[in-house]
Amino acid sequence: MPSFEWNKIIASVLTAMIVAMVSGILATFVVHPVELEQPVYMPPGAAEGAKGAEAAAAAAAKPQKLAPIGPALANADPKKGEEIAHVCQQCHTFGKGEPNKIGPNLFGVFGGPIAEDRGGYEFSDALQKHHGEKWTPARLNIWLHDPQDFAQGTKMSFPGLPPVQERADVIAYLATLTPGGAATEKKVVEEAAAEAKQQTKPAPAKPAAAAPAKPAAAAAKPGSAAK
Ligand code: HEC
Repeated sequence: MPSFEWNKIIASVLTAMIVAMVSGILATFVVHPVELEQPVYMPPGAAEGAKGAEAAAAAAAKPQKLAPIGPALANADPKKGEEIAHVCQQCHTFGKGEPNKIGPNLFGVFGGPIAEDRGGYEFSDALQKHHGEKWTPARLNIWLHDPQDFAQGTKMSFPGLPPVQERADVIAYLATLTPGGAATEKKVVEEAAAEAKQQTKPAPAKPAAAAPAKPAAAAAKPGSAAK
């Protein structure tokens, strides 16, 4: 074999070694392995105890959903709601027959039709998509939590009231501005109470007995002190 053949062989081996070396150096530039602070996989119970893992699983299963308004409505104070509603007055009037501002007049809006009959007020297409629906406490709850969440693209540029109790107070205030609104509100509260009872324990004899002061057991025992 002529010597230049050997030269070619040696040259190709050297080239291969250099390419391997350079690509190794380049690779460490491109990829930076990072040491993990914690193992990615935690066996259940390893980190925060079994309860923590369970809670985390429950949280993952339920993407943040707004809690129903019923329980908060039970403790709602329309007077407080009226005070909170001062922030709404920048855009809304609340009195009967008062003019529309940036937003429509809200007298009687509780229980009323969505985006309708507001003295010619021009609602956005986003809110008009809800034509035919009524402003129930449940809908007002979502709306007042985040208007965009209820009607994506609405022109009510209000960030919302994050505390559930504030929303309940405002809804209770709105209910006072609708004839018969208080009755609707009471119904929602009662439904929520009944639901809560069913979830916690088997329903007692009288589902309407919301007050624990009424001793149901006393009635059963003839000898007890019940009047
Ligand atoms: C920055 C101005 C602004 C503020 C503040 C504001 N709103 Fe509104 N609101 C609007 C506008 C504008 C609309 C009409 C929305 C549309 O057509 O998309 C509206 C619509 C509404 C509606 C629907 C009316 C209907 O007839 O369907 C309700 C209910 C409402 N607002 C309640 C409230 C309450 C309660 C507050 C205070 C907690 C509030 N808004 C704060 C501007 C505002």
